[in-house]
This record gives sequence, C-alpha cells and structure tokens, in this order.
Amino acid sequence: MEEKIQTKKRRAAITSVAHWVPDEVLDNNYFASYLDTSDEWIVTRTGIKERRILRNGATSDLGYNAAKLALERRGMSPNDIQLIICCTVTPDMPFPPTACIIQDKLGAKKCWGFDINAACSGFLFGLETARNFIESGNYDRVLLIGADKMSSISNYQDRNTCILFGDAGGAVVVEATEDGTGILDSYLRVDGTGKEFLYMKGGGSLNPATEETVRKGWHYIYQDGKTVFKRAVVDMAESSALMMERNGLSSEDIAYLVPHQANLRILEAARERMGLEKDKVMVNIDRYGNTTAATIPMCMSEWWAAGKVKKGDNLVLSSFGAGYTWGAILLRWAY
Ligand code: COA
Repeated sequence: MEEKIQTKKRRAAITSVAHWVPDEVLDNNYFASYLDTSDEWIVTRTGIKERRILRNGATSDLGYNAAKLALERRGMSPNDIQLIICCTVTPDMPFPPTACIIQDKLGAKKCWGFDINAACSGFLFGLETARNFIESGNYDRVLLIGADKMSSISNYQDRNTCILFGDAGGAVVVEATEDGTGILDSYLRVDGTGKEFLYMKGGGSLNPATEETVRKGWHYIYQDGKTVFKRAVVDMAESSALMMERNGLSSEDIAYLVPHQANLRILEAARERMGLEKDKVMVNIDRYGNTTAATIPMCMSEWWAAGKVKKGDNLVLSSFGAGYTWGAILLRWAY
C-alpha cells in the first residue's frame, strides 16, 4: 500500500485536534430516579453510562473552547485561520451562523466562515468540505468545529431519547501536506426518505414556533430508534468497509476505526464487518453519550492526547445520522 500513495500530491490533513466538555455529569441513575428506565437497560441497549451537560452557555461556547485548544496545540494564532466551518444542529440561534459567533469569541480577524447542518454526519461532511478548500490550493488553514448542545433540544421526560445525548465540542485544524499523509478517500451520501424517522419538527419555516408547537413538544428531538438503528447498522458498516476495500487495505493496515458514537451495538457491527480487533475502535460513548457533530473529533482528540495515534496511522472515520446522512473518510494521520 505504501508504494501506491503519491507523496507529491497536495492533500488536506488534520494537523491539530482538541475537544471540550462541560464539568457536569448526568449518570444513568439520574434518569432512573424519575423515569421508567434503569442503568442496566441503558448500558445494554446503548453502551452509555454517563453524559455531560452544559447548564449555562451555548454551542458556540463548546466550539470555542475546543477551537481555542486546537489552535494552541498547533501553535497558531486565531488570525492564522482563513476559514471557520462549524458543524452543528444546535446553533446558538437559527441565524447568525454559529461560525460567526465563534469567530468573534476567538478574535479571528482574517477569515470567513459558515455552518453545516448534517446532523451526526456533520463532522465528516465538514471535513470533506475543508478538504476541498485545501486541495483547491486556495486555502491553507481551515478551522473545522463539530459542536452540539443536545441538552437544548432533548425532552427530559422522553426516555426514548433523553438518555442518548450529551453536550460537547470538538475542533481540528486542516492544512495542506505533500508527504503522503492526509485525507485519502471519502464516500458520503444522503437519503431524504430518512426525514420521517429522526427530526426536530418545530422552529423551522415549515412549523414556526408557536404556543401550539411548544405544547406539542415539536422543539424536541423525535426518533424512531428501531428504524434508524436498522439503517445505521448497515450503512455505517458498509461505508467503513468500502474505505478498506477500494483502497486495497486489510484489517492489519487500519490503526483505528473512528465511528460516530450513537450506539455501541452499531459500532460493533462496523468493527466486525471490517474484521478489526476491539482495541482498534475508538469508543467513548460510555462517558459522553451521543454528542452529534462532536463525537468523531472528541475520539481523535482523546486518543491523540493519550499518545495512541501516530504519524502514518490509517484511520477510517464513519458516521450515520438524521437526514439520513452517512459515509466514511479514510485518512493517514499527519503528525
Ligand atoms: N429505558 C427503558 N425502556 C426503554 C427506554 C429506556 N430509556 N427507551 C425505550 N424503551 C423501551 C421502549 O419503549 C420499548 O418498549 P415497548 O417494547 O414496550 O414499546 C422497548 O424499550 C424497546 O425499544 P426499542 O426502541 O426497540 O429499543 P432498541 O433496542 O431499538 O434501542 C435505541 C433504542 C434508541 C437505543 C436504538 O434503537 C438506537 O440506538 N437507535 C439508533 C440511534 C442512531 O443511530 N441514531 C442515528 C444517529 S443520532
């Protein structure tokens, strides 16, 4: 495989990664104290033991804290950044873009930016977008953020959904490399028939917020978990395996699968389809739950900080989320 990678090609690579979570922890027993649920049910069905909750503040705070650390780790000033992409389904407000709010908090004076809404696939869709800005040759330094304050759209009386989600921010710096590292391949898809099964019905142009939409709880997440599960388990596994198969990589060539953290059983299915050992999958759903656009950069940040990711490692990032949106990205770690 090594010989096949062209080393002179300009590629987009992650050159710094960081994450940030609030201090407050909600464990499963908290939900069991007032809902008809149990720690045992939540752990066996989802793999989640606890999640973090941001009481005061917004998604931009989650994103800002992660972004600040990512820049510090790279030794960059906010003014070095040319473009900020913020992936989120929980923007501070419908507009202005949360990217602008983070830009202002960072004091980044020489950039533009925008938000991407691709639900749990936000980070992957954002990374592919950043990749194309870099590969075009027009941009050298992009700040990509995945952040969600899922507690702001969770109904804490609905046991089907509230136990699943947490709040977090992740951020990466994306730059150009020519040494054979960086993003090697991607496969991304959407299928709008999925809109029936995972959505937030109110607050948009179809159902603007009214007393009635609030009374009906349309400002909360709705999910038909079983239907979404059946699709996620297949599409995440198949797109992850595709990254190996069409690049001639075997399980030995892969250092890590970095899956979106929605359900431990979905991650396990992807791991098995790829023929990977258990220690080759980044899993932190037990400590954070599903943090939507933040899960993938959070995993990479934790594993990198623990010294478990090194230059030249092949990583397969994969996700599935509302839309439906899904896909996978193959990259070779750059630092
Ligand atoms: N505690 C106890 N029981 C619960 C519960 C909870 N927190 N949540 C749901 N249940 C009940 C349901 O009401 C249902 O009861 P019923 O059979 O009497 O109707 C039963 O448990 C089984 O529910 P079901 O939805 O079939 O469970 P599941 O095994 O599919 O697990 C999810 C539910 C949500 C964990 C799972 O479907 C899932 O992870 N879905 C995909 C999530 C995903 O990938 N989303 C995309 C990215 S966000």
